[in-house]
Amino acid sequence: MCGALGDRRPHRTVGGKRCGRLPGCLLLIRSGPVGGTSGRPRRLRERVDTAGLAARIGLGRGTHPGDASGNARRAEPVWQTFGSDLVRMTGGDPAPQNGRMRGFGQEFGVDGCYLNTASIGVPPVPVVEAVAESVREWGGGGGRAPRFDPAVAAAREGFGRLIGAGTDRVAIGSSVSGLVGLVAANLRSGARVVTARDEFTSVTFPFAAQAARGVTVTEVDLCDIASASGGADLVAVSVVQSADGAVLDLAALRAATEGTATRVLLDVTQAAGWLPLELDWADAVVGAGYKWLLSPRGAAWMAVAPRLRDMLVPHAANWYAGDERWDSIYGLPLRLATDARRLDTSPAWLSQVGAAVALPWLASLDREQVRTHCVGLANRLRAALGEEPGDSAIVSVTRPGAADRLSAAGVVASTRRGAARLAFYLHNTENDVDRAVSALG
Ligand SMILES: Cc1ncc(COP(=O)(O)O)c(C=O)c1O
Repeated sequence: MCGALGDRRPHRTVGGKRCGRLPGCLLLIRSGPVGGTSGRPRRLRERVDTAGLAARIGLGRGTHPGDASGNARRAEPVWQTFGSDLVRMTGGDPAPQNGRMRGFGQEFGVDGCYLNTASIGVPPVPVVEAVAESVREWGGGGGRAPRFDPAVAAAREGFGRLIGAGTDRVAIGSSVSGLVGLVAANLRSGARVVTARDEFTSVTFPFAAQAARGVTVTEVDLCDIASASGGADLVAVSVVQSADGAVLDLAALRAATEGTATRVLLDVTQAAGWLPLELDWADAVVGAGYKWLLSPRGAAWMAVAPRLRDMLVPHAANWYAGDERWDSIYGLPLRLATDARRLDTSPAWLSQVGAAVALPWLASLDREQVRTHCVGLANRLRAALGEEPGDSAIVSVTRPGAADRLSAAGVVASTRRGAARLAFYLHNTENDVDRAVSALG
């Protein structure tokens, strides 16, 4: 019988045949029995071996030669014992069928030319299967709230690794704006915020919404962020701009703000996953999971440095942020975790199940190799369009009619500020670039 969500044990493989409903036999994570005779849920031990989690649930660690371009080589099988069973977890599968792509050792179900990760990321198949299995469990009456805790923990740690910050700094939420809103609500009245011109509004609206308290938000050109930071209470800016993929000069901002009273909030929604990041110097680092982090909508994270954490009132305090989570569900007094978990909001479970597969895998990849792959494809496009090489995985094509031409040719991209926005990620290949180039004429 297939394990409930909460079981680390996958479907059994018997006599070379899988007994489960899923081809990949994936997920799930043991959290141990809950409840108990007292009727009061006991605290769960989150025994999450995130180092091995990705491999156990079907996502082999790291990359190997031939993977980066996606389709050059098949992954070797990874075998894992579960009790007395020897189960093939990943790799060694038949070559992808129906135009499916492989990227960095994983199969992606995307069929066609998908250059739209900047809008919605396409998850690798094991992420899809993990979420689907969880939905089935839920539909079968197998949903148990505490069993999602290890998934939340694995995704939290994955986010920390992706941005170069410790897990104890990372709080969970459901959207970027909700997490940024927490910081905004904590600003002193009359605070001055500096941001980039045409910044994504989930980064700016939460601050602008504090205008009645005298909070002001000043937009400057992205290249002027560092020089404009002097005297500001907070700089709030995306590391990679949503509209056109422009990359912030992180070193300049760090140099301008370190040792000053100016706090820095960075949004990595368009950066984490493809861009190597070491951001433990920033006060807050926030990101959504549904783009480059290949997770379902509904999971977001914010890493908070202790100096900021200690001054934040947790306006959305709740049971999930409790120090002893399952002993925090009834009654006062307030008893929140001491680390960044105190800022958690209750998890969107299914999103976290997907994130628990996607983020540890992404964090295990060689991110310089990922960047080289993504920016390399973007620069292939730039070169074909007669442009200089850039440093971003996102290309903004301003020539008239670009979006319509791409759409007519079946190339999935997006339109931002009147330009076509093309994003290159793990599953993309040079063929995708060439299709876009031929569509653009
Ligand atoms: C830079 C950036 N931040 C955040 C988001 C999403 O924000 P939210 O989670 O508030 O919808 C996006 C979506 O496009 C984005 O591009």
